[in-house]
Amino acid sequence: MPKNRRKQFNKSPPRTSWDPVADWYAGWVGKDGSKHHRKLAIPAVLELLNPQPGLKVLEIGAGHGVLAPYIVKRGAKYTGVDVSKKLLRLARKYHGRQGKFVWGDARRLSRSPELQPAAFDAVIFMLSLQDMEPLRPILESASWALKSGGCVVLLLTHPCFRVPRQSGWGWDEQRKLQYRRIDRYLTPLCVPMHPYPGQKKGVTLSFHRPLSVYINGLAECGLLLERMQEIPACKVHPSEGNARAKKLADREIPLFLGLRARKMALSI
Ligand SMILES: C[S@@+](CC[C@H](N)C(=O)[O-])C[C@H]1O[C@@H](n2cnc3c(N)ncnc32)[C@H](O)[C@@H]1O
Repeated sequence: MPKNRRKQFNKSPPRTSWDPVADWYAGWVGKDGSKHHRKLAIPAVLELLNPQPGLKVLEIGAGHGVLAPYIVKRGAKYTGVDVSKKLLRLARKYHGRQGKFVWGDARRLSRSPELQPAAFDAVIFMLSLQDMEPLRPILESASWALKSGGCVVLLLTHPCFRVPRQSGWGWDEQRKLQYRRIDRYLTPLCVPMHPYPGQKKGVTLSFHRPLSVYINGLAECGLLLERMQEIPACKVHPSEGNARAKKLADREIPLFLGLRARKMALSI
C-alpha cells in the first residue's frame, strides 16, 4: 500500500454518524426525499432491485427512511438500520408504519440484537456507503445479513467522476466544450464535506475509493457483481459555457453509479 494511503487509514475508524446534522438533513431532503432521491436515486435502486411481494429488504444507512414507502408499495418488507439515533427517531415518526427502523453500526451488524444472520433477500446502500468507513467490515456485515443467493444494491456518487474536492466541471473556450476535470483518483481519501447551504453545525465525512476497491471488496465478501448502471445527474452544476455543451456533458458524464451483486453460496 502506498505510504500516504497507509497513513490515512491507520488511524482508528472515524465517526460517521449523521447525528450532528440530522435535523438539517431531514429538513433539507424532506420526508419524501429530495429531487435527486425521487428522480434518480430511488428509481435506480428500484430498477436494480426489482422488489417482489414478500421480499425482505434491509437498508443500511437508512437515514430518516425516505426509501421505505417505495419498497413497501411493491409489497416487499422493509427494515432500515442506521447509527444516527436522531435520524432513526425521524424515520419512525415519518415512516414507522411502513418499516422497522433499528439502531446498528454497519461495521458490526452481527452485534445488533434486532438483526439475524441470513435473514434478508436484499441489502441496499442508497447514497450511504460513501459516507462509511472502513469498507471491508461493512461489506462483510451486508453479506452476513443476506441469505445465500440474495443481492446487495449500491447507489453511489460515481467514484470515477465525483471525487470530493478533487473533481469539477470546466469550460474549454477553444473547443467550446464542457469538460469534467479529475485531479486525483487512485488514492482513497477521507474528505470532510463543506457545510451545505442552511446547515448551521456539524461536518460529515465522505470517503473516496477508486472503483476497483468497491468491485474487489464485494468479491472478497462473496458478493459477485452482476449489474452496473451509470447514471447522469439531472443537471450539471452551473459554470461557464453554452447550453448545448452543458446538455451534452449532462448526458455523457455519469455522476451516479448503481451496482448489484449477488451473494454466492459458501461465502463468508
Ligand atoms: C447521506 S446519508 C443517506 C441516508 C439515506 N440513505 C438517504 O438517502 O437519505 C448517510 C447515512 O449513513 C449513516 N451512517 C454513516 N455511518 C454509518 C455506520 N457505520 N453504520 C450505519 N449507518 C451509518 C448516517 O448516519 C446517515 O444517515
